[in-house]
This record gives sequence, C-alpha cells and structure tokens, in this order.
Amino acid sequence: MASNRRSIMIVAGTRPEAIKLAPVFWNLDKLGVDYTFVWSGQHYHYEMSRIFFEQLGLPEPDIDLDTRSGSHAEQTAKIMVSVEKAIEELKPSIVVAEGDTNTTLAVALTSVKKLVPFAHVEAGLRSWDRTMPEEINRILADAAAELHFAPTGLAAINLMHEGIPLRKIHITGNTIVDVVYKFKDHVARQGRWLLNKLGLEPHSYILVTVHRQENTDYPQRLGNIVKALIELSKQYPIVFPIHPRTVSRLQSYRLWSQLSSHENIYLLKPLGYFQFLGLLMNSLIVLTDSGGVQEEACTLKVPTLTLRYNTERPETVLVGTNRVIGREARRIVEEAIKAINSRSQIVSNAESVSNPLGDGRAGERIAIVLSNAVENHIQIEAIDSRENPYITYALLDLHDLGEIAKSVGDIVALYDERGTSILDLSRAHKIVIRLPRSRVVSK
Ligand code: UD1
Ligand code: UDP
Repeated sequence: MASNRRSIMIVAGTRPEAIKLAPVFWNLDKLGVDYTFVWSGQHYHYEMSRIFFEQLGLPEPDIDLDTRSGSHAEQTAKIMVSVEKAIEELKPSIVVAEGDTNTTLAVALTSVKKLVPFAHVEAGLRSWDRTMPEEINRILADAAAELHFAPTGLAAINLMHEGIPLRKIHITGNTIVDVVYKFKDHVARQGRWLLNKLGLEPHSYILVTVHRQENTDYPQRLGNIVKALIELSKQYPIVFPIHPRTVSRLQSYRLWSQLSSHENIYLLKPLGYFQFLGLLMNSLIVLTDSGGVQEEACTLKVPTLTLRYNTERPETVLVGTNRVIGREARRIVEEAIKAINSRSQIVSNAESVSNPLGDGRAGERIAIVLSNAVENHIQIEAIDSRENPYITYALLDLHDLGEIAKSVGDIVALYDERGTSILDLSRAHKIVIRLPRSRVVSK
C-alpha cells in the first residue's frame, strides 16, 4: 500500500547515532523498504554530523530540525516540539531512534504520545548509575518503546527484568559491529595515512577520547585526566581527537594550555569516522569514556581502559579487552602501563573468543523486523480490563505447568535451575509471566 511505503521515520541527532543507524539504512535500502530520515541537529558542526552521512552513505535528511545545544530540559523540549511537528508532517506508522541521548529520549516520548509505535535500537543497556543522563534516557526510551532491539542477551535480560515481554525484544547484535566489519580494511589505510602525517608509528601511541558530562563538567575531574595524560606522554605519544564539549571545558578551566604545551600530546579536531577508526586499530591502547569506542575497541581487539566507574557494556569487560578504571590520575597511569605491558596477552585472549557484541548482521535483523512491523500494521498496545482489572505477575514452575504456563501470559523473565536469568525458554525451569493477556490495540 502506498501509505506503507514511506512509513518508517528514522530520527538521529548526534555523531554515534548517525554511525550506528547506518546499517539500518543500508538494509532497509536492500529490502526496498522506504523510510524518511529526520536529523534533530543536536550535533550540528560538519565534523560532528554530516561527515558521517557522507562517509557512511546516509541519505540527505528529509528534515533537519536544527535544534542545537542547550540545558538538558531545553534541548530535550526543543527536540520534542520539533519532532512532534515532523511526525504530523510525515505521518509515519513507526518511529525509530538509537541509543541514549537527549534526541533518543525526546523522540521516544513524543512518538508514543502521538500514538506512533517507537522502536529503540540498542535497547536494554544499563550502567545502573542513575546520576548519568544517558542512563535516565535509556530507561525512559525503553519504557516508551513498543519494539526493542537489544544488542546482546544481557541487554535483553535487563529489559525483561523491567517487565518488557519477551515477544517485544529482538536480540540483534550491535550495529557498530556491522560498521566496523564493513570498513575495517578501508580504515586501516586511512589510519596509516594519518599516522604518516603525524609522524607516528603504528602501535606506538595511546589514543584518548573524553566527552562524558561526569568527566568534563567538573574542573578537578578533568584536571585528573589531564594530569594522567601529561604523565603518560613522558613515555608514549598521546593522540587525542577532542569532542567540542571537552574543548570548551578545557579552555574554561585553563587546562588547554597545559595539554597543548606538551609536544608528545597531539590534540586533534574531532575526526571523520574512517580516520578515527584507523587510529583506533593502530593504537597501543585506548583510554576512553565513550560507549561506541568501548564497543569498537572490543570488536577490533584493542585493549581499552574506560575512564568511568561503571559501564553499560559489561560484555567488553567479560571478554577481557576492557577495564573500568575510574579517573584518579595515579590509577590511570598505572593501569595504562600495565595494559601496554600485557598487550599481547590481552589481544591473544580476545582473539580466542568470539565477539560478544555481534556478528555484523544486526542491521539486517533490525530492518527485517521493522519491515514486518509496518507490514503487520504495528500499533501501541492497550489492555482490555473489563473482565479482569488486575495485572498479575506470577512466578511459575515450568515443570509443574508445562506448556500451559507459556500460553497464559507474557513472559517477562526466565530462570534456569540455579535461579540464574537466562533467555532460552527450552532451558527454563521457572518463568515470570504477566497476566492478563487480553490486548486491544489503540485506534
Ligand atoms: C551527547 C550525548 C551523549 C553522547 C554524545 C556523543 C546527551 C545527554 N548526551 O553529549 O550521550 O555520548 O552526545 O558525542 O544527549 N557542540 C558543538 N558542536 C556540535 C555539538 C556539540 O560545539 O556539533 C558543543 C556545544 O558546546 C554543546 C556541547 O558540545 O553545548 C555538548 O553537546 P551536547 O549534544 O549537548 O552533548 P554531548 O556532550 O555532545
Ligand atoms: N568517533 C569519530 N571521531 C572522533 C571520535 C569518535 O568518528 O574523533 C566515533 C567513534 O568511532 C564512535 C563514535 O564516534 O563510533 C562514538 O561517539 P561518542 O564517543 O561521541 O559517543 P558515545 O558512543 O559515547 O555515545
């Protein structure tokens, strides 16, 4: 039907969203499914936005909302108002956004309130740190979503424990793996070109990215990181492509001149994707507080030290490429030296296990589910409580109830015989279900 042809509206607004949604665009194109693309404009400088459209083959946005920066409330509210108008204009039957930014939150809330089902790419990640703006954005975006694209089994378990029925969760892998696999060979050449320009040898330098609010908005915290980088630069070149937020904080805390006066510290503008990934794959180790960089480094098997006290990507720690080390200067220096000295061991351990983040086909899986959802006229659910007003959760023993347990309600959690959360129904001993099952769809 013609009305279905352009009925997926994809909204992005920051650097990582442009990068991670690219595989969804590629695969919708492959399937011949039409969509519209809206850019919120939360990121607006060329090197934070359009360079990624060009490099990763994103279409020209149908609408650029150009909302730009502001406080959390201002930015989120501006995006909500503009996205509401975009929904009215484009009349999508499903809206898609990715990740955990203010754009993601604004899109999720606006979409569900306009009664358009919201699909969340990279659903279910949890750092369990509620002081982090991204954590609040993730929880609320997942609460609003009708379709959850969980990158890993762990993310799916997190969603189930928040009461999301299993049938709404699709474990797809992380789309960043698709991107890295597609461009790996190309970026290796780009990386070497940039290294030549900087006069650096492969695997001789430490790559750094820092942009999190909790690291940049406190002079002492950012000062600790700067102190560690200066100390490390006595032994290793430091390559630091700097996020605009961090540039502005370094300047206002008078830390910029401390960093830039060291000749072994290379301060660069934010890089295009190919150059950045090329630098990452040729680095000795990476120090970062970025979500995407933790994932890319895990995929490329680059030892990573995460300058935070928690991570919503524990799979990267379990597989051994990533260590969460906080931001005390002394600890950063010690851990960096340790990681460099044991680099070959870390890399060979990582090479012996498969990538926990995906197999490079996440975009394909997401595009198929989206296409089917549109085909099947997905609606936001409502419950008909006329017969039974109670929503009941029940913990059921599968051995006693067998097949009946699965048919009476929505499965929201599964446990094996030791009580460990699992996803495989065939291995489940106990399940939590939600009653009733009588659903009506909103008109
Ligand atoms: C946002 C996301 C963060 C994500 C990051 C990716 C939220 C709450 N945070 O953080 O989760 O990891 O994007 O990079 O949504 N600026 C520019 N030019 C730009 C964009 C930003 O100069 O093109 C500067 C502005 O001074 C702005 C500051 O960077 O005030 C912060 O930008 P903002 O989008 O608010 O947050 P990020 O730190 O980028
Ligand atoms: N990135 C880039 N150029 C840079 C720094 C990072 O292209 O100079 C890419 C990086 O490869 C990753 C993404 O940006 O895919 C991560 O974005 P960011 O760290 O801003 O956000 P987060 O992932 O933490 O939300």
